[in-house]
Amino acid sequence: MNYDAIKAGELSFPPGFMLGAATAAYQIEGAAAEDGRGPSIWDTFSHTPGATAAGATGDVAAGHYHQVATDLDIMASLSLEAYRFSISWSRVMPSGEGVVNHAGLGFYSDLIDGLLERGISPIVTLNHWDLPQALEDRYGGWRGRQTAYAFERYAEIVGAAFGDRVAIWSTHNEPWNNSFAGYGHGVFAPGIKNHEAALKAAHHLNLAHGLAVSALRRTITKPDAKISIVLNIFRVEPETAADVEAARRFDAVANRIFTGPVLDGAYPADLLEDTKTFTDWEFLRPGDEAICHQPIDLLGVNYYEIMHIRDRADFDPAQEQMGGTAFPGSERVELFRPTGLGRTAMDWTVEPWGLENHLVALSEQRPDLPIMVMENGAAFDDVVTEVDGKLAVIDRDRTRFLIDHVKATLQARERGANVVGYLVWSLLDNFEWAAGYGPRFGIVRVDYDTLRRTPKLSAHWFAELCRTRTIPVLSDAGIPA
Ligand code: BGC
Repeated sequence: MNYDAIKAGELSFPPGFMLGAATAAYQIEGAAAEDGRGPSIWDTFSHTPGATAAGATGDVAAGHYHQVATDLDIMASLSLEAYRFSISWSRVMPSGEGVVNHAGLGFYSDLIDGLLERGISPIVTLNHWDLPQALEDRYGGWRGRQTAYAFERYAEIVGAAFGDRVAIWSTHNEPWNNSFAGYGHGVFAPGIKNHEAALKAAHHLNLAHGLAVSALRRTITKPDAKISIVLNIFRVEPETAADVEAARRFDAVANRIFTGPVLDGAYPADLLEDTKTFTDWEFLRPGDEAICHQPIDLLGVNYYEIMHIRDRADFDPAQEQMGGTAFPGSERVELFRPTGLGRTAMDWTVEPWGLENHLVALSEQRPDLPIMVMENGAAFDDVVTEVDGKLAVIDRDRTRFLIDHVKATLQARERGANVVGYLVWSLLDNFEWAAGYGPRFGIVRVDYDTLRRTPKLSAHWFAELCRTRTIPVLSDAGIPA
């Protein structure tokens, strides 16, 4: 599909559709040991030799903790309508439970007020992977059921503190990465490599979600506030008819393991069957699925690329593929990237039609559940230049990527998808987890030596999109006219 056919100004976002940008605490804040913050599993993991590229840590990251006023002004200058950030659990509760750190709560309270003063809607994620280390030590992290109850208490505290002002709450961000990359493949914190541990973590994340939704409903007071979960539900595409069964297995362990209990109230039978050689699921207690299954107002979806799948009988489960080893229950599944497509600096394929078709299909499955694109964006290698004596980053590749994905979102709406917002990942260049500071996803460049911020061409384009609510016309220089 060629999105060039959609001309600038042709389709527009209706009033109420939210346009904005997203970040996550550990990726941008820095100030890892300041003002009473306790360590998280990402502090421990990133300080483990060999765990991250070039030994990168989030100790300083984009320095957002100390530059929050600058960043708020940048957001206002870009006319963002919404800003999605996550709360560092160990900043507000250094041991994950018990004592509350009021300096930590104060930081987020001021951030929320700063957003509201500038007319920007706050969207808060409770868990973007940086679990307090104390809970990993005490309960085995997400392997332990007690962590879900600790999460409920944390949700209650932040719900009571910010529930008068936050527009949208999300319990988790991408529990798939949290559980399978963190506890199964071990490429993310806490670096555990055990299939049963990943399945346990996935269940306790689902349980924690349900408990936290109830805790938020008990504590928040803003009448129109919405509660969501952000899943990276994968767009799964089998290569041929012979690969449909492999796609089903992957869809079960990667997607339906979350959507099943959270949205439908039960784990799918085929998932339980596929994974039985790894676990007897004794950690799933009677009544758990009902707890996971709380009504939510919005489904957050992160989209980066299509998961192309083929069945490979001779597939070696120990082989590394797309960031991990084989997934429990889907040993024959091979994920591959077709040739002939554009690639980002992560080597991810560029397939905006995947987003369009995904949004349409998800909406067809659940017409009453509004969807928000909570993350979409791309890493490309940026070049800093000077334009009229000022620093500039003319990131045409990222701008083109955003143009096409915004068009795909508009097109999905035309086809009836119930999409209510689009957030670009990310506002700032940041700590890209195990990949460190190499990949740059920001629409605003961060110079990691000086922490100076420079909005890129993509930021100027996005600002124009927010102002006009339609695809801006670009001048020859690529800058919005
Ligand atoms: C995560 C972000 C991450 C981005 C790009 C998502 O999986 O939520 O934290 O930086 O993708 O990899």
